[in-house]
Amino acid sequence: MNIDPGIVWKHLEEHHKLYPAVQKNKIKEIEARLIRVDTACVDPTYCPLRSLKKEYAYALNSVRLHNLYFENIGEPGSKPSPELVNVIEGYFGSLQEWEKQFTALAACSRGWVILGFDLTDGAIINFFADDHTEGVWSVIPLLVLDVYEHAYCSIFQTRTAYIESFLKRIQWEIVSKRLKAAREVFKKIQPVVK
Ligand SMILES: [Fe+2]
Repeated sequence: MNIDPGIVWKHLEEHHKLYPAVQKNKIKEIEARLIRVDTACVDPTYCPLRSLKKEYAYALNSVRLHNLYFENIGEPGSKPSPELVNVIEGYFGSLQEWEKQFTALAACSRGWVILGFDLTDGAIINFFADDHTEGVWSVIPLLVLDVYEHAYCSIFQTRTAYIESFLKRIQWEIVSKRLKAAREVFKKIQPVVK
């Protein structure tokens, strides 16, 4: 399926305006409300503090995941470095097997697919999240894919076509940069995070 790259870029721009940009304003609004919230009025079913904190995490994670996604998608042609291929082979057997697993998760997730670096043991694992509030603590995202329908429905006829396009547009140098940073953090905090 050949798609005009200009249309893809325009769609990414619209996506960026709609999600992280709008949600950044919501984060400011929630922070302002949290300053004034009544901390004496608390209840695990409903209270303003609970709701504000819950939606704060939702908006914050959405902004962070979208920013990571927009950073790791770009022009086709980027290839993973031999060092990165070695790391992926070490955990998945081959780059093709990693791609197969990542693609399968992209087909069944309702929101996000993430290749993550686990700070507890230094492993890299594929995760998915049905919404912005799901995820595993102490995991640094290396590669993020947005599979919400807003990410592809107006451009691609199927999710499969979108995933195929994404795989060609991964900016592998960004993944390598994140992996290097994650490994440096891992070395420093290893005695603490277990
Ligand atoms: Fe999105």
